[in-house]
Amino acid sequence: MARVNIELKAFDRDPEGTAARCVALGATDAGVLAQRDTYFVARRGRLKLRVEEGALGGELIAYRRDDAPEAVESGYVRAPVAAPEELAEALDGSLGTVVVVSKRRRLFLWEGVRIHLDEVEDLGSFVEFEAVLPDAGDSATAHAKLARLRAELGIADDALVPVGYADLLMDGPEVLLRAASEAMRHAYAPYSRFKVGAAVRGASGAVYAGANVENSAYPQGQCAEASALGAMVAAGESSITAVAVVAERLEHCPPCGGCRQRLAEFGSPDTPVYLSRPGSGDPHAVTLGELLPGSFGREALES
Ligand code: THU
Repeated sequence: MARVNIELKAFDRDPEGTAARCVALGATDAGVLAQRDTYFVARRGRLKLRVEEGALGGELIAYRRDDAPEAVESGYVRAPVAAPEELAEALDGSLGTVVVVSKRRRLFLWEGVRIHLDEVEDLGSFVEFEAVLPDAGDSATAHAKLARLRAELGIADDALVPVGYADLLMDGPEVLLRAASEAMRHAYAPYSRFKVGAAVRGASGAVYAGANVENSAYPQGQCAEASALGAMVAAGESSITAVAVVAERLEHCPPCGGCRQRLAEFGSPDTPVYLSRPGSGDPHAVTLGELLPGSFGREALES
């Protein structure tokens, strides 16, 4: 059955203080959940498989939500899943995985509103309100309850987050860098011993990774970026929104000239490119335009 939630999400700089204020409001502490949400490429809205630590099954959740900072309504359908691992494999194989969101959620219940204090891997701490209709009353009552909670917990306008965790992760470099590092481990580089991994995000949100593949006839070797782009094209996509490149032996491996041209074919001058070494600190962020100014593109052929 389709249901409706009214939701509000914000960064939380003081999760302990927020928890104390929830208790002071008389909210019930409903414990801590560890959740892993895998988002798949979806034609409409979002599609995620939720698996909770310690649970046997999972849930497939399809939902729509308008991105807006103020409290917004989202319709959703939840379907119980008996074999989540197999379903994840099937959906990943046929649709593609966009991103995985892992979090520890401390749950409070207050007048039909779920209060989530979330610690999200790679993102940090958040507080989220979820008023489930009709448990929290009609729509106007639920909005009034969220406004009261917001005031009681002191959530400022600049802390509001208008998008979901999956969107925040997709906008950042972590997911792509992890995919590139994973691919790098399988690089075939017996001649240079210089292992490289690359990952690109396609317009659908799906991530494609590749490694360098060398050859005893040296010029036949292929760069990691070319491998990743090949995987993307084979999956039916032809544009990229972000790139990550990692190398085992270099802090920030600059893509070679040929790969700058290859990447420019599918991206735009402002497409971000993250350069890093697996396990190392801050990635270096550049754009395709910075890597290859004045590039030769398809417009030149159309002139
Ligand atoms: N390599 C890449 O995979 N990508 C680049 O952008 C730079 C170089 C590989 C090619 C070769 O297998 C090894 O690094 C040493 O040149």
